[in-house]
Amino acid sequence: MTATTIDGRAVSQKIKEQVKMRVERLKEQGVIPGLAVVLVGEDSASHTYVKNKKKSCEALGMRSDLHQFPDTLTEAELLSTIEELNNDPQIHGILVQLPLPAQIDEFKVILAIDPAKDVDGFHPISVGNMMIGKEAFLPCTPHGIMKLLEHYDINPAGKHTVVIGRSNIVGKPVGQLMLQKDATVTYCHSKTTDLASFTRQADILVSAIGRAKLIDQSFIKPGAVVIDVGMNRDENGKLCGDVDFADVSQTASFLTPVPGGVGPMTIAMLMENTVQSAENGLQ
Ligand code: GUN
Repeated sequence: MTATTIDGRAVSQKIKEQVKMRVERLKEQGVIPGLAVVLVGEDSASHTYVKNKKKSCEALGMRSDLHQFPDTLTEAELLSTIEELNNDPQIHGILVQLPLPAQIDEFKVILAIDPAKDVDGFHPISVGNMMIGKEAFLPCTPHGIMKLLEHYDINPAGKHTVVIGRSNIVGKPVGQLMLQKDATVTYCHSKTTDLASFTRQADILVSAIGRAKLIDQSFIKPGAVVIDVGMNRDENGKLCGDVDFADVSQTASFLTPVPGGVGPMTIAMLMENTVQSAENGLQ
């Protein structure tokens, strides 16, 4: 069997086209959706992510303001920036790029963001609403994964989904969204013993561990759907996922590549959340 490659670039393009039309309708009503991105420090991956987010906003006709600070920024200074953005009617979404420098308490920062502008879906109010299946901004990567499955007509209902990773950004929420779609969910993580014994039971495997090409055929049940959230560098410095693509594509039925799988979906869902927030402001 050779797996079908899930084309995240194509699906994200479709979503962005729909977002662009919604932006145009908002502009007719005098509203330009605005995203504020806050970047602290010099982390090079964060700089790349932020650049891509800004570029996408501009391509869709949205406003994007970058607030960039040195890694000496104090927590009080960051909280006061967030307060200003909360009160700025031109800004509909606030995204503070993580990780933050050690002197800043990430949780305090997330708590300070107005939930109505929480386009990352990280505020406890957003997380709580997501958990109980109420309307909420969904975290972008998990939401993007669910959209990919939907696009390829992969229905999680009754399937065993195994998630590797338990971060608040990806692992925990993607398991919850799968559960809401009636999957049976198992979480694995760094302390799981005999990881492969779990992953081999997965109809849908989501890997968010951050270890280059760890997942080979020996972890995969034949015919499984494999979603690779990893963003790693291989021995030659080339971008790669958690999954050994060439090897696993011999066994899986569907497989996301890195790059070009989950990554572009994260940005598309951020754009969608921002335009949704602007629309909510009109109601
Ligand atoms: N760092 C890694 N992924 C993300 C994300 O989706 N949002 C934010 N704010 N920071 C991140």
